[in-house]
Amino acid sequence: MDLLWIQGKIHETVRKGIKPIDETIKTMANLIDATIQTVRRIATELRPGVLDDLGLVAAIEWQAQEFQHRTNIQCRFISTVMDIELDRERSTAVFRILQETLTNIARHAHAAKVSIRLEVEKNILMLETKDDGRGTDVSEMTSKKSLGVLGMKERAVLLGGSVDIISAPNAGTSVVVKIPLSQSVKDRHLYD
Ligand SMILES: Nc1ncnc2c1ncn2[C@@H]1O[C@H](COP(=O)(O)OP(=O)(O)OP(=O)(O)O)[C@@H](O)[C@H]1O
Ligand SMILES: [Mg+2]
Repeated sequence: MDLLWIQGKIHETVRKGIKPIDETIKTMANLIDATIQTVRRIATELRPGVLDDLGLVAAIEWQAQEFQHRTNIQCRFISTVMDIELDRERSTAVFRILQETLTNIARHAHAAKVSIRLEVEKNILMLETKDDGRGTDVSEMTSKKSLGVLGMKERAVLLGGSVDIISAPNAGTSVVVKIPLSQSVKDRHLYD
């Protein structure tokens, strides 16, 4: 903003010999833009520390409480498993998808209650997040230029899974994430 302000001032006051300064300012502005983008990308790729400290199930529990505290929307979490041994890629993806889902609820749903359910069945992890908010037209949801839902789907698809959204006006929204567990985890369960 400062750079743009300076640029405007220079345009106003100096008419001659301005080109070099002008170009330097442009280069600086481009560099700042690129830096912001890089920082954003790195921040989203970073693994949330809470996952390392607590593991996925406890991290979700923590996130649910945090969400309830921050938004005053009641948020319940039920898990049919005590803990899951998941590789970093999968647990990070599931956690990030949940965070985007909750952010969407806080921003768009006007919900009073949220329930999160985690299950592992036939080597597929399933996480469902349901809200009782205003709901929306699903086709509209994905046709918008917004990146949240697209990013969630992309994360899941990269791991051979899926994100399905069930929603209708005035009927709330349900986001179902399915991620197949890795081969090594499957094997470990077989021999347990
Ligand atoms: N839980 C929800 N309840 C009602 N509408 C929702 C819900 N989640 C998403 N939506 C609708 O779907 C749209 C797309 O969501 P998406 O996360 O892709 O984008 P966004 O949140 O608008 O922007 P961003 O790219 O910052 O995430 C939202 O704009 C909103 O209209
Ligand atoms: Mg969003």
